[in-house]
Amino acid sequence: MADSNATDELNALASQGLAKLQTCIDEPSLRLWNTEYFGDTGSMKAALGKIGKIPPAERKAYGQDANRVKTALETAYTAALEIAKEASLQLSLTTDPLDVTLPGRPIAPGRLHPATQILRDIQAIFADLGFQVYRSREVETDEMNFELLNMPPHHPARDMWDTFFTTVPGQILRTHTSPGQIHLMREMAPNPIRAILPGMCYRNEAISTRSEIQFSQVEGIVIGEGVTMADLKGTLTAFARRMFGPDRQVRIRSSYFPFTEPSIEVDIDWPKEDPNRDRLTKGTGWLEILGAGMVHPTVMRNGGYDPDKVTGFAFGMGPQRMLMLKHAIDDIRLFWQNDLRFLRQF
Ligand code: DAH
Repeated sequence: MADSNATDELNALASQGLAKLQTCIDEPSLRLWNTEYFGDTGSMKAALGKIGKIPPAERKAYGQDANRVKTALETAYTAALEIAKEASLQLSLTTDPLDVTLPGRPIAPGRLHPATQILRDIQAIFADLGFQVYRSREVETDEMNFELLNMPPHHPARDMWDTFFTTVPGQILRTHTSPGQIHLMREMAPNPIRAILPGMCYRNEAISTRSEIQFSQVEGIVIGEGVTMADLKGTLTAFARRMFGPDRQVRIRSSYFPFTEPSIEVDIDWPKEDPNRDRLTKGTGWLEILGAGMVHPTVMRNGGYDPDKVTGFAFGMGPQRMLMLKHAIDDIRLFWQNDLRFLRQF
């Protein structure tokens, strides 16, 4: 008796369960159904729990039936859940439709960093004047950065460049692009040279609106027979006019660098129409843009040239400084802060 009763109960459970499942119209109601049948106190759980109480003779048959019902209910539940999920997705697409005709999100095209732009401008101007571009190393030896540029150890002029030293004795970060002159001369001697050497330099300085520990320079060097100060002046005047405007006047002041003799500093007259003129030029109207000079005979020899046969001039300028002058930027730190509000203006 008990066996047929138990089997009837199982069959009833199956048909009721399936019938009830049909009435569940969405995911929450399906979950409720699942708890009712398969939860800790659920009817399917109870039916399975009964197995142990069935007389041993019928236990096997009951167990098999119970498992069949369990599988049937589970399969039906999983299928119904899938359908309900799919339906709710469809519903969200109709109530919250996707407008495929909307314009896409704008893609901001990248642009060149102002420091790169000015470097390219400078390179283009010198390319027109017949200069090649030579790249030299940033980690230098003390010998290249100072000694061969006519600054022996303890030379007081070394104080002009606060140096970053490395853990390797004698290896430093170059404080200027001038050591590249020696590398280039040693590669080229005894042939003539007309080249610029752009690149990063490093100085161990307190960072302020006017000085950074990292900045680029563009070095220039020309070597050949009969190169004179007049060539230097002509080259730099041509450069200044292309860079700062065709009416620019160039003024030369004497100066001192260990690697040039004579040494000069070059100023340009600042455009009268610029409202920042007085502040930039401290009321003089003139602004320094670079240092230069005739290559010192000692440097010439160190580079492998005979100073009795050839002469040359060299110059060094700071592109970031040029950019600051051109656009009245008063804080050099802006260049490496990568603030898009600054960078987008160029
Ligand atoms: N190296 C110098 C500096 O960093 C700039 C300079 C001056 C370079 C005169 C030259 C030069 O080639 O002739 O301040």
